[in-house]
Amino acid sequence: MPESLKILPDFTEQAINDRLKFIRAVNAQHKNSFAEDVLHGLSSDPKTLLPKYFYDAYGSELFEQICTTPEYYVTRTEASILKNVSAFIAELNNDKRVIVELGSGNSEKTKFILNAFTKRNSGITYVPIDVSEILLDGGKHLIEEFEGLSVHGIIGEYEESLEVVNSLITEPKLIIFLGSSIGNFDMPHAGYFLRHVSNNMHEDDTLLAGFDMVKEENVLNAAYDDAAGVTAKFNLNILTRINNELGGEFDISKFSHRAFFNPLESRVEMHLVSISRQDVNISSIGKVIHFQENETIHTENSYKFTDEMINELSSKAGLRISDKWKDEKDYFELCMMKK
Ligand code: AVI
Repeated sequence: MPESLKILPDFTEQAINDRLKFIRAVNAQHKNSFAEDVLHGLSSDPKTLLPKYFYDAYGSELFEQICTTPEYYVTRTEASILKNVSAFIAELNNDKRVIVELGSGNSEKTKFILNAFTKRNSGITYVPIDVSEILLDGGKHLIEEFEGLSVHGIIGEYEESLEVVNSLITEPKLIIFLGSSIGNFDMPHAGYFLRHVSNNMHEDDTLLAGFDMVKEENVLNAAYDDAAGVTAKFNLNILTRINNELGGEFDISKFSHRAFFNPLESRVEMHLVSISRQDVNISSIGKVIHFQENETIHTENSYKFTDEMINELSSKAGLRISDKWKDEKDYFELCMMKK
């Protein structure tokens, strides 16, 4: 661990060995529980559920599977850009020994960056941040694969984890936010989030963010409704999660997956459609939810960007784009930003 990285007393640290450590970032403020969010979302008109609840252990596994479907071009395209430009990114960030990743998942694509940084310099520390315990396994593999790399993961939500990073790491860092995960925030929230990242950056820090671009509608629709039905399973899993964790009585066969590009909002929307009129009891929230035939639950937005949208978001957050890279079809863009 770099000298400047010390553990705050209120965070639990788990050291597996001297190259592999984890911190659990605990919520300082009260955040809504799953039950409160479900009660609020299913009592709203139209009904909604928050996409962060897709990612229980099974949902995270399904997301990994989505990334390998032929239709979901996002992961492959971003990986191909990273493969081409990681060495240059490492050169541009030669002063940095700390790489912080927001929402790292299994860190697969990040390996291009880690490889480029560890080739140039020794003493690199990778700080993956994720709500999922998938970090633990990922970290073990990374220290085996990259000699000399230290992994100091933070298990927690982005906001509080960033505060932990900001208070513990004083040396220059590269923050990475891949996969166009920013697209899952509504635009005002994306702006607020980027501003929060920017507020937690020092003058020498760099942000590398991935943005999925607007493209042909049929490509977008297929990416979110793959022929093998993995995305449908991923979407429906949120109902299974309510059944398992909140005593819900959803009959999953009575809902179907719907995904489409909404050009007016520049986003792919995912919904769950009630196939028939039905009442569903959810015991933990003490409510029976009524559904009309064809009524939907809006479960996710995935914004697709134009260069203008990216410019506006970054400048509002007090960040300037220093470099950007696209694939040959202009499907995806990686942007490097500074304060
Ligand atoms: C994690 N996130 C960027 C994915 C996306 O493309 O919006 C989540 C996803 N939902 C359906 N397929 C993938």
